[in-house]
This record gives sequence, structure tokens and C-alpha cells, in this order.
Amino acid sequence: MSNTQPRPVESERIALKARNVSFSWEDTPLHWVPGDPFTTHTINVLHLLLPAGERWFVHVYKQVLPLIRDDRLRADVVGFIGQEAMHSQAHDEVLPHLRDQGLDPTPYTAQVDWFFEKLLGDRTLPPGRARRWWLLERVALIAAIEHYTAFLGDWVLGASELDRRGADPTMLDLLRWHGAEEVEHRSVAFDLFQHVDGGYRRRVRTWATAFSALVFLWQRGIRFFLENDPTLTDPKASFKDFYLRGRQGTLPATGDMLRSIPRYLGRGYHPSQDCSTAQAVAYLAGSPAALAAQKREAA
Ligand SMILES: [Fe+2]
Ligand SMILES: [Fe+2]
Repeated sequence: MSNTQPRPVESERIALKARNVSFSWEDTPLHWVPGDPFTTHTINVLHLLLPAGERWFVHVYKQVLPLIRDDRLRADVVGFIGQEAMHSQAHDEVLPHLRDQGLDPTPYTAQVDWFFEKLLGDRTLPPGRARRWWLLERVALIAAIEHYTAFLGDWVLGASELDRRGADPTMLDLLRWHGAEEVEHRSVAFDLFQHVDGGYRRRVRTWATAFSALVFLWQRGIRFFLENDPTLTDPKASFKDFYLRGRQGTLPATGDMLRSIPRYLGRGYHPSQDCSTAQAVAYLAGSPAALAAQKREAA
């Protein structure tokens, strides 16, 4: 096979299933990484972005299903839809807990809802080329975003520094259950993009859009949390705060994030070349939330 074609690693493939998890937040403190509001809120931005973002994935993918001409890929996409719908719901359920602790996220989530539902929504396009172009563009955007959800999933599964610092076990389980499923399904969005389009220029263009949007939304989300946290008197933060935590291991390292960019843009790249399905499966086998879900299903 030519090195200009994505090269999947077949042994990393797994059948996907949604786990019907649930979490109770009453014992989780506001700063669930003790003494570190910056790390806490940087990760908390996930609860602001993912409910609307993953709902949008599901909305777009339901429109793409009729275009899939491969049974195995269709089964993967159906499994992906089930997992993402559950992720969206699980993060959404953290928001009332933040509100109870004096941190109402509504002003920010209203903007995120507008971003995904209006700016990236269906638009009133006539059936035909324009509508198809917009659908393919969004499928490519999701593939680029999923490069980062897999990156973060892989990171959080190995982020032992968070355990060492006494981070809240329920929040860690939410993040690692979600992260493990992101690793499990890391190839689906890319495979779907390759199946319906796969254009290299579109891959690069939509990566640039997705990356810029993620950086923009994330830094605004961190600022929103720090400014509205009722316990903080000095809400200032800078890139240095992020960089230093990356070095300490409580957030992803800046160097690792930068190195992930040329990987996604490599012509022979396939998501199955990164991360470890075995590590994800091993976490899910012991995840308190996943085990409880399994027990409920068996009952
Ligand atoms: Fe997800
Ligand atoms: Fe995902």
C-alpha cells in the first residue's frame, strides 16, 4: 500500500457499545483537584462544550447514515452515536452540581449551544450540492475534533498525577470512562470521513478550523469559570499556568499537543496508529461507573 494512504492497525479495532452510566456528584468539591482551581476549571470546560458538541455529532451522523455503503462502518457509526449520546448526557448532569456550588454555567453554555446549533447547524440549504458540501464539511470537522477527544482520552487514562494529588474519584471516573470510550471509537469519525469524502485538502482545512475553534472556546471557558468562581479573589490566568501544569502532569503537556498536529496531517495517518485499545478496555473493566451500568443491565 502506498504511504500516501491512511494505514489502519486492524488489531486496534473493537465492537462498540454504549454503557448506560450514572454518577452522583453530591460529594464532589468545587475544586475537585484539591487546591488547584486552574486545573479544575481547565478540565471543567469539557462539561460546557461536550453536551452541545456531542449532541451535534449525533445530529450530523444521523444524516450521514444513509450515505454509508459498508456494513461494518455503519455498525461502527451506530455504536459511536450511542456512546456520544451517553457522553453528552453524563457531562450535562454535572452542570446542576456546578450551579448548586454558586457557579452558574448558563451564560457560557448558551453561547456554546448557539455555536453548535446555529453556526454549525443544518442551515436552510436546498437539496443538492450545497447541502451535501455542508454535510461533508461537518463530517470532516468531527473527524478533526475526534483527533483531540482521543488525544485527551489517552492522556487522562495515564494521568496518574491527578490521583497522586487526591483528585475527586467520581470526576476521574467520569473522565476516564469517557476517555476510554473515545479511545475505543477513535477511528470511526476518520473512517467515516474517508468513506464519504477523504479529500486531503478538506482534512487540512477542517483541522485548522476545528483547532482554532477549540482553542478559542477553551480559553474563553477557562476565563469564564475563573471569573465566576465565587471562591476566587484573583481570577487571572495565563498560558504559563497551562504550560507549567503540563510539565507537572495535571494537564496535557504542550509539547505533546504540538506533536499531535503533524500526526493528524500526515497523509498515511490513521487514528488506530495512536493510543491503545487494550488500555481503554482495561480501564472500562474496572471503572466503577461502567461496572455499575453492567450490573444494572444484567438485573
Ligand atoms: Fe465523547
Ligand atoms: Fe468521540
